[in-house]
Amino acid sequence: MASKVLVTGGAGYIGSHTVVELQNNGFEVVIVDNLSNSNIDVLNRIQKITGKRPIFENFDLCDTEKIKLFFKKHNDIKAVIHFAAFKAVGESVSNPLKYYNNNLVSLVNLLQAMNENNISNLVFSSSCTVYGQPDELPVTEQSPIKEATCPYGYTKQVSEQVLKDSTSAYKFFKAIALRYFNPIGAHDSALIGELPLGVPNNLVPFITQTALGLRKQLSVFGDDYNTPDGTCIRDYIHVVDLAKSHVIAIQRLLKNNNINDFEFFNIGTGKGNSVLEVINTFERVTAQKLNYKITNRREGDIEQVYADTKYANFELGWKAEKTLEEALLSAWNWEKYYRNNLSNKE
Ligand code: NAD
Ligand code: WQD
Repeated sequence: MASKVLVTGGAGYIGSHTVVELQNNGFEVVIVDNLSNSNIDVLNRIQKITGKRPIFENFDLCDTEKIKLFFKKHNDIKAVIHFAAFKAVGESVSNPLKYYNNNLVSLVNLLQAMNENNISNLVFSSSCTVYGQPDELPVTEQSPIKEATCPYGYTKQVSEQVLKDSTSAYKFFKAIALRYFNPIGAHDSALIGELPLGVPNNLVPFITQTALGLRKQLSVFGDDYNTPDGTCIRDYIHVVDLAKSHVIAIQRLLKNNNINDFEFFNIGTGKGNSVLEVINTFERVTAQKLNYKITNRREGDIEQVYADTKYANFELGWKAEKTLEEALLSAWNWEKYYRNNLSNKE
Protein backbone atom coordinates (compact mmCIF):
# COMPACT_ATOMS: atom_id res chain seq x y z
CA MET A 1 0.00 0.00 0.00
CA ALA A 2 1.21 3.47 -0.84
CA SER A 3 2.34 5.47 2.19
CA LYS A 4 0.32 8.61 2.78
CA VAL A 5 2.35 11.78 3.20
CA LEU A 6 1.01 15.11 4.44
CA VAL A 7 2.56 18.02 2.54
CA THR A 8 1.88 21.35 4.23
CA GLY A 9 2.23 24.29 1.86
CA GLY A 10 1.96 21.80 -1.02
CA ALA A 11 0.24 24.33 -3.28
CA GLY A 12 3.28 26.61 -3.12
CA TYR A 13 6.41 26.79 -5.26
CA ILE A 14 8.65 24.08 -3.78
CA GLY A 15 5.71 22.13 -2.34
CA SER A 16 3.98 21.65 -5.70
CA HIS A 17 7.16 20.33 -7.32
CA THR A 18 7.65 17.96 -4.39
CA VAL A 19 4.07 16.68 -4.64
CA VAL A 20 4.78 15.79 -8.28
CA GLU A 21 7.91 13.84 -7.33
CA LEU A 22 6.17 12.09 -4.41
CA GLN A 23 3.28 11.00 -6.62
CA ASN A 24 5.67 9.87 -9.34
CA ASN A 25 7.35 7.71 -6.68
CA GLY A 26 4.11 6.04 -5.60
CA PHE A 27 3.27 8.08 -2.49
CA GLU A 28 -0.26 9.18 -1.76
CA VAL A 29 -0.28 12.89 -1.00
CA VAL A 30 -2.54 15.04 1.15
CA ILE A 31 -1.90 18.77 0.87
CA VAL A 32 -2.81 21.24 3.59
CA ASP A 33 -2.55 24.83 2.42
CA ASN A 34 -4.49 28.00 3.24
CA LEU A 35 -3.64 29.45 -0.20
CA SER A 36 -2.20 32.59 1.42
CA ASN A 37 0.57 32.54 -1.20
CA SER A 38 -0.69 30.10 -3.83
CA ASN A 39 -3.61 29.22 -6.07
CA ILE A 40 -5.97 26.27 -6.01
CA ASP A 41 -5.52 25.82 -9.76
CA VAL A 42 -2.09 24.28 -9.14
CA LEU A 43 -3.94 21.04 -8.25
CA ASN A 44 -5.26 20.77 -11.82
CA ARG A 45 -1.78 21.24 -13.16
CA ILE A 46 -0.26 18.67 -10.79
CA GLN A 47 -2.95 16.30 -12.04
CA LYS A 48 -2.00 17.08 -15.64
CA ILE A 49 1.64 16.22 -14.95
CA THR A 50 1.18 13.11 -12.82
CA GLY A 51 -2.27 11.84 -13.82
CA LYS A 52 -3.28 12.03 -10.18
CA ARG A 53 -4.96 14.75 -8.14
CA PRO A 54 -3.63 15.07 -4.59
CA ILE A 55 -6.12 15.25 -1.74
CA PHE A 56 -6.46 18.88 -0.66
CA GLU A 57 -7.54 20.49 2.62
CA ASN A 58 -7.71 24.26 2.89
CA PHE A 59 -7.01 25.60 6.37
CA ASP A 60 -4.50 27.58 8.38
CA LEU A 61 -2.02 25.50 10.37
CA CYS A 62 -2.12 28.12 13.12
CA ASP A 63 -5.65 26.86 13.83
CA THR A 64 -5.23 24.13 16.46
CA GLU A 65 -8.80 22.85 16.26
CA LYS A 66 -8.65 22.42 12.49
CA ILE A 67 -5.40 20.44 12.76
CA LYS A 68 -7.02 18.11 15.31
CA LEU A 69 -9.99 17.50 13.01
CA PHE A 70 -7.64 16.98 10.07
CA PHE A 71 -5.71 14.17 11.76
CA LYS A 72 -8.96 12.55 12.89
CA LYS A 73 -10.10 12.46 9.29
CA HIS A 74 -6.73 11.36 7.86
CA ASN A 75 -5.66 8.80 10.44
CA ASP A 76 -3.29 6.88 8.17
CA ILE A 77 -0.59 9.52 7.57
CA LYS A 78 2.91 8.08 7.83
CA ALA A 79 5.07 11.16 7.35
CA VAL A 80 4.89 14.93 6.99
CA ILE A 81 6.78 17.45 4.88
CA HIS A 82 6.35 20.93 6.34
CA PHE A 83 6.76 23.68 3.73
CA ALA A 84 4.05 26.05 4.96
CA ALA A 85 5.63 29.32 6.08
CA PHE A 86 6.01 32.94 5.06
CA LYS A 87 9.33 33.61 3.32
CA ALA A 88 9.71 37.27 2.33
CA VAL A 89 12.83 38.59 4.02
CA GLY A 90 11.93 42.30 3.72
CA GLU A 91 8.39 41.84 4.99
CA SER A 92 9.72 39.88 7.96
CA VAL A 93 11.72 42.98 8.94
CA SER A 94 8.73 45.33 8.67
CA ASN A 95 6.22 42.88 10.19
CA PRO A 96 8.16 40.43 12.38
CA LEU A 97 5.17 39.29 14.45
CA LYS A 98 3.43 38.05 11.30
CA TYR A 99 6.47 35.84 10.66
CA TYR A 100 7.09 34.63 14.21
CA ASN A 101 3.39 33.82 14.51
CA ASN A 102 2.89 32.00 11.22
CA ASN A 103 6.20 30.17 10.97
CA LEU A 104 6.56 29.11 14.59
CA VAL A 105 2.95 28.57 15.67
CA SER A 106 2.24 26.40 12.62
CA LEU A 107 5.29 24.22 13.36
CA VAL A 108 4.50 23.80 17.06
CA ASN A 109 0.83 23.01 16.29
CA LEU A 110 1.88 20.45 13.73
CA LEU A 111 4.36 18.75 16.07
CA GLN A 112 1.79 18.63 18.85
CA ALA A 113 -0.74 17.01 16.55
CA MET A 114 1.87 14.55 15.23
CA ASN A 115 2.76 13.67 18.81
CA GLU A 116 -0.90 13.08 19.74
CA ASN A 117 -1.38 10.92 16.65
CA ASN A 118 1.87 8.94 16.93
CA ILE A 119 3.27 10.18 13.64
CA SER A 120 7.06 10.07 13.88
CA ASN A 121 8.46 11.36 10.62
CA LEU A 122 8.97 14.99 9.63
CA VAL A 123 10.93 16.69 6.85
CA PHE A 124 11.32 20.41 7.45
CA SER A 125 12.09 23.24 4.99
CA SER A 126 15.09 25.02 6.38
CA SER A 127 17.37 27.44 4.62
CA CYS A 128 20.97 28.45 4.09
CA THR A 129 19.86 31.64 5.80
CA VAL A 130 20.68 29.86 9.11
CA TYR A 131 24.41 30.26 8.31
CA GLY A 132 24.36 34.05 7.80
CA GLN A 133 27.67 35.12 6.19
CA PRO A 134 29.85 32.07 6.81
CA ASP A 135 33.53 32.45 7.71
CA GLU A 136 34.56 29.69 5.35
CA LEU A 137 33.29 28.54 1.98
CA PRO A 138 31.84 26.22 0.93
CA VAL A 139 29.62 26.07 3.98
CA THR A 140 29.27 22.66 5.65
CA GLU A 141 26.62 21.41 8.06
CA GLN A 142 29.22 21.84 10.80
CA SER A 143 29.71 25.54 10.05
CA PRO A 144 28.48 27.64 12.97
CA ILE A 145 24.98 29.05 12.97
CA LYS A 146 25.55 32.81 12.80
CA GLU A 147 23.26 35.58 13.90
CA ALA A 148 20.38 35.73 11.43
CA THR A 149 20.07 38.80 9.23
CA CYS A 150 16.26 39.07 9.56
CA PRO A 151 13.27 37.75 11.55
CA TYR A 152 12.55 35.24 8.78
CA GLY A 153 16.04 33.79 9.30
CA TYR A 154 15.43 33.59 13.06
CA THR A 155 12.21 31.63 12.46
CA LYS A 156 14.28 28.99 10.63
CA GLN A 157 16.93 28.88 13.36
CA VAL A 158 14.31 28.60 16.11
CA SER A 159 12.37 25.99 14.12
CA GLU A 160 15.48 23.81 13.89
CA GLN A 161 15.97 24.20 17.65
CA VAL A 162 12.34 23.19 18.21
CA LEU A 163 12.98 20.06 16.14
CA LYS A 164 16.20 19.25 17.97
CA ASP A 165 14.54 19.57 21.39
CA SER A 166 11.38 17.71 20.35
CA THR A 167 13.18 14.78 18.76
CA SER A 168 15.35 14.47 21.85
CA ALA A 169 12.42 14.65 24.30
CA TYR A 170 9.83 12.54 22.45
CA LYS A 171 11.83 9.48 21.57
CA PHE A 172 9.71 8.27 18.69
CA PHE A 173 10.08 11.58 16.79
CA LYS A 174 12.51 11.79 13.88
CA ALA A 175 13.10 14.86 11.78
CA ILE A 176 15.25 15.88 8.84
CA ALA A 177 15.81 19.57 8.12
CA LEU A 178 16.82 20.32 4.55
CA ARG A 179 18.74 23.58 4.31
CA TYR A 180 17.95 24.83 0.83
CA PHE A 181 20.31 27.22 -0.88
CA ASN A 182 18.69 29.34 -3.64
CA PRO A 183 15.87 27.40 -5.36
CA ILE A 184 15.15 28.49 -8.92
CA GLY A 185 13.56 27.12 -12.10
CA ALA A 186 10.40 25.21 -12.81
CA HIS A 187 9.06 21.82 -13.87
CA ASP A 188 9.98 20.81 -17.43
CA SER A 189 6.31 20.76 -18.40
CA ALA A 190 6.16 24.52 -17.62
CA LEU A 191 2.85 23.80 -15.87
CA ILE A 192 4.11 24.70 -12.39
CA GLY A 193 6.73 27.19 -11.24
CA GLU A 194 7.48 30.12 -8.99
CA LEU A 195 4.77 32.74 -8.75
CA PRO A 196 5.63 35.67 -6.49
CA LEU A 197 2.80 38.05 -5.61
CA GLY A 198 3.54 41.62 -6.74
CA VAL A 199 7.09 42.79 -7.39
CA PRO A 200 9.49 39.84 -7.01
CA ASN A 201 12.17 40.05 -4.32
CA ASN A 202 14.22 37.19 -5.72
CA LEU A 203 16.63 37.45 -8.61
CA VAL A 204 15.33 34.88 -11.10
CA PRO A 205 11.63 35.84 -11.14
CA PHE A 206 12.75 39.47 -11.49
CA ILE A 207 14.89 38.46 -14.47
CA THR A 208 12.11 36.50 -16.21
CA GLN A 209 9.55 39.26 -15.61
CA THR A 210 11.96 41.89 -16.95
CA ALA A 211 12.71 39.81 -20.05
CA LEU A 212 8.98 39.53 -20.68
CA GLY A 213 8.49 43.29 -20.32
CA LEU A 214 6.51 43.15 -17.05
CA ARG A 215 9.33 45.05 -15.30
CA LYS A 216 11.27 47.87 -16.92
CA GLN A 217 14.70 47.15 -15.56
CA LEU A 218 16.54 44.74 -13.31
CA SER A 219 18.73 46.28 -10.63
CA VAL A 220 21.94 44.43 -9.87
CA PHE A 221 22.46 45.15 -6.19
CA GLY A 222 26.12 46.17 -6.05
CA ASP A 223 29.25 45.30 -8.04
CA ASP A 224 31.77 46.29 -5.40
CA TYR A 225 31.81 43.05 -3.42
CA ASN A 226 35.01 41.10 -2.89
CA THR A 227 34.18 38.55 -5.61
CA PRO A 228 35.71 38.01 -9.08
CA ASP A 229 33.19 40.25 -10.90
CA GLY A 230 32.13 42.27 -7.84
CA THR A 231 28.59 40.89 -7.62
CA CYS A 232 27.25 38.54 -4.94
CA ILE A 233 27.62 34.78 -5.22
CA ARG A 234 24.91 32.21 -4.44
CA ASP A 235 24.29 28.50 -4.95
CA TYR A 236 21.29 28.30 -7.31
CA ILE A 237 19.57 24.92 -7.21
CA HIS A 238 16.96 23.64 -9.68
CA VAL A 239 13.65 23.20 -7.87
CA VAL A 240 13.15 19.71 -9.36
CA ASP A 241 16.48 18.54 -7.91
CA LEU A 242 15.41 20.10 -4.62
CA ALA A 243 12.00 18.37 -4.76
CA LYS A 244 13.71 15.01 -5.26
CA SER A 245 15.73 15.44 -2.07
CA HIS A 246 12.45 15.42 -0.13
CA VAL A 247 11.41 12.07 -1.56
CA ILE A 248 14.77 10.64 -0.49
CA ALA A 249 14.45 12.16 2.98
CA ILE A 250 10.96 10.68 3.41
CA GLN A 251 12.18 7.26 2.24
CA ARG A 252 15.05 7.47 4.71
CA LEU A 253 12.72 8.28 7.61
CA LEU A 254 10.26 5.54 6.67
CA LYS A 255 13.06 2.97 6.42
CA ASN A 256 13.98 3.91 9.97
CA ASN A 257 17.52 2.57 9.63
CA ASN A 258 18.78 3.88 12.95
CA ILE A 259 19.18 7.42 11.80
CA ASN A 260 19.83 10.07 14.39
CA ASP A 261 16.72 11.70 15.77
CA PHE A 262 17.44 15.01 14.10
CA GLU A 263 19.49 15.37 10.96
CA PHE A 264 20.15 18.37 8.75
CA PHE A 265 21.56 18.56 5.26
CA ASN A 266 22.73 21.21 2.84
CA ILE A 267 20.70 21.02 -0.34
CA GLY A 268 22.54 22.93 -3.02
CA THR A 269 24.69 22.31 -6.09
CA GLY A 270 28.01 22.99 -4.39
CA LYS A 271 28.77 25.64 -6.97
CA GLY A 272 28.57 29.42 -6.58
CA ASN A 273 27.45 31.76 -9.35
CA SER A 274 27.54 35.55 -9.35
CA VAL A 275 24.57 37.74 -10.24
CA LEU A 276 26.27 38.73 -13.51
CA GLU A 277 26.93 35.07 -14.36
CA VAL A 278 23.24 34.34 -13.85
CA ILE A 279 22.26 37.26 -16.09
CA ASN A 280 24.75 36.28 -18.82
CA THR A 281 23.67 32.65 -18.71
CA PHE A 282 20.02 33.65 -18.91
CA GLU A 283 20.70 35.86 -21.94
CA ARG A 284 22.63 33.08 -23.64
CA VAL A 285 20.16 30.22 -23.13
CA THR A 286 17.02 32.21 -23.86
CA ALA A 287 18.43 34.55 -26.55
CA GLN A 288 16.82 37.46 -24.69
CA LYS A 289 18.52 40.77 -23.96
CA LEU A 290 18.03 41.89 -20.39
CA ASN A 291 17.71 45.52 -19.46
CA TYR A 292 19.73 45.85 -16.26
CA LYS A 293 21.81 48.39 -14.38
CA ILE A 294 24.19 48.25 -11.46
CA THR A 295 22.74 49.94 -8.38
CA ASN A 296 23.64 50.23 -4.70
CA ARG A 297 23.98 47.18 -2.51
CA ARG A 298 20.76 45.81 -1.00
CA GLU A 299 20.76 46.08 2.79
CA GLY A 300 21.26 42.75 4.54
CA ASP A 301 22.72 40.93 1.51
CA ILE A 302 25.61 38.67 2.27
CA GLU A 303 28.57 38.63 -0.08
CA GLN A 304 28.74 34.97 -0.92
CA VAL A 305 27.42 31.62 0.14
CA TYR A 306 27.47 28.20 -1.46
CA ALA A 307 27.10 24.71 -0.13
CA ASP A 308 29.42 21.88 0.64
CA THR A 309 27.07 19.07 -0.39
CA LYS A 310 29.32 16.08 0.40
CA TYR A 311 27.31 15.05 3.45
CA ALA A 312 23.99 15.06 1.54
CA ASN A 313 25.63 13.34 -1.45
CA PHE A 314 27.08 10.59 0.68
CA GLU A 315 24.55 10.15 3.46
CA LEU A 316 21.33 10.74 1.50
CA GLY A 317 22.63 9.47 -1.82
CA TRP A 318 21.24 12.64 -3.38
CA LYS A 319 23.00 14.95 -5.80
CA ALA A 320 21.86 17.98 -7.79
CA GLU A 321 21.84 16.93 -11.45
CA LYS A 322 20.51 19.88 -13.38
CA THR A 323 22.61 22.78 -14.61
CA LEU A 324 22.15 26.51 -14.17
CA GLU A 325 21.35 26.66 -17.89
CA GLU A 326 18.51 24.15 -17.51
CA ALA A 327 17.17 25.93 -14.44
CA LEU A 328 17.10 29.35 -16.10
CA LEU A 329 15.56 28.02 -19.30
CA SER A 330 12.83 26.25 -17.32
CA ALA A 331 12.11 29.44 -15.35
CA TRP A 332 11.76 31.33 -18.64
CA ASN A 333 9.48 28.69 -20.19
CA TRP A 334 7.27 28.76 -17.09
CA GLU A 335 7.06 32.57 -17.05
CA LYS A 336 6.00 32.62 -20.71
CA TYR A 337 3.50 29.77 -20.29
CA TYR A 338 2.00 31.34 -17.18
CA ARG A 339 1.59 34.81 -18.67
CA ASN A 340 0.19 33.50 -21.96
CA ASN A 341 -2.13 30.82 -20.62
CA LEU A 342 -2.91 31.13 -16.94
CA SER A 343 -2.49 34.61 -15.47
CA ASN A 344 -5.84 35.88 -16.78
CA LYS A 345 -7.70 32.85 -15.40
CA GLU A 346 -6.37 32.88 -11.82
P1 NAD B 1 5.53 29.40 -1.08
O1 NAD B 1 5.03 30.66 -0.43
O2 NAD B 1 5.41 29.27 -2.54
O3 NAD B 1 4.80 28.14 -0.41
C1 NAD B 1 4.40 28.13 0.93
C2 NAD B 1 2.94 27.64 0.95
O4 NAD B 1 2.50 27.56 2.32
C3 NAD B 1 1.98 28.58 0.24
O5 NAD B 1 1.19 27.83 -0.66
C4 NAD B 1 1.13 29.18 1.35
O6 NAD B 1 -0.20 29.44 0.92
C5 NAD B 1 1.20 28.11 2.42
N1 NAD B 1 1.08 28.58 3.81
C6 NAD B 1 1.79 29.55 4.42
N2 NAD B 1 1.41 29.66 5.70
C7 NAD B 1 0.45 28.73 5.92
C8 NAD B 1 -0.33 28.35 7.05
N3 NAD B 1 -0.22 28.98 8.22
N4 NAD B 1 -1.24 27.34 6.91
C9 NAD B 1 -1.39 26.72 5.72
N5 NAD B 1 -0.68 27.03 4.62
C10 NAD B 1 0.23 28.03 4.72
O7 NAD B 1 7.04 29.21 -0.60
P2 NAD B 1 8.16 28.21 -1.15
O8 NAD B 1 9.16 29.01 -1.89
O9 NAD B 1 7.54 27.04 -1.78
O10 NAD B 1 8.84 27.82 0.23
C11 NAD B 1 8.48 26.63 0.92
C12 NAD B 1 9.29 26.52 2.19
O11 NAD B 1 10.68 26.53 1.86
C13 NAD B 1 9.11 27.66 3.18
O12 NAD B 1 9.15 27.13 4.48
C14 NAD B 1 10.32 28.55 2.94
O13 NAD B 1 10.65 29.28 4.07
C15 NAD B 1 11.36 27.51 2.61
N6 NAD B 1 12.48 28.02 1.81
C16 NAD B 1 12.21 28.67 0.63
C17 NAD B 1 13.26 29.18 -0.12
C18 NAD B 1 12.99 29.92 -1.40
O14 NAD B 1 13.85 30.69 -1.82
N7 NAD B 1 11.84 29.75 -2.05
C19 NAD B 1 14.58 29.00 0.31
C20 NAD B 1 14.82 28.32 1.51
C21 NAD B 1 13.74 27.84 2.26
C1 WQD C 1 20.10 36.56 -5.01
C2 WQD C 1 21.19 37.53 -5.45
C3 WQD C 1 20.91 39.78 -4.62
C4 WQD C 1 17.23 40.61 -6.82
C5 WQD C 1 16.80 34.78 -0.31
C6 WQD C 1 16.65 34.66 1.18
C7 WQD C 1 17.18 33.34 1.64
C8 WQD C 1 16.52 32.19 0.85
C9 WQD C 1 16.65 32.39 -0.61
C10 WQD C 1 14.54 31.48 2.00
C11 WQD C 1 21.63 38.47 -4.33
C12 WQD C 1 20.78 39.73 -6.13
C13 WQD C 1 18.35 40.01 -6.31
C14 WQD C 1 17.39 41.72 -7.70
C15 WQD C 1 19.77 41.48 -7.52
N1 WQD C 1 15.11 32.13 1.08
N2 WQD C 1 19.60 40.43 -6.65
N3 WQD C 1 18.66 42.09 -8.02
O1 WQD C 1 18.83 37.07 -0.99
O2 WQD C 1 20.29 35.12 -1.76
O3 WQD C 1 18.18 34.68 -0.60
O4 WQD C 1 16.13 33.69 -0.95
O5 WQD C 1 15.01 30.87 2.90
O6 WQD C 1 16.88 33.24 2.99
O7 WQD C 1 17.38 35.71 1.80
O8 WQD C 1 18.08 35.54 -2.89
O9 WQD C 1 17.12 35.85 -5.11
O10 WQD C 1 16.83 37.69 -3.40
O11 WQD C 1 19.07 37.29 -4.37
O12 WQD C 1 20.89 41.87 -7.83
O13 WQD C 1 16.40 42.33 -8.16
O14 WQD C 1 20.64 38.38 -6.46
O15 WQD C 1 21.61 40.90 -4.22
O16 WQD C 1 23.00 38.66 -4.50
P1 WQD C 1 18.95 35.71 -1.52
P2 WQD C 1 17.68 36.62 -3.97
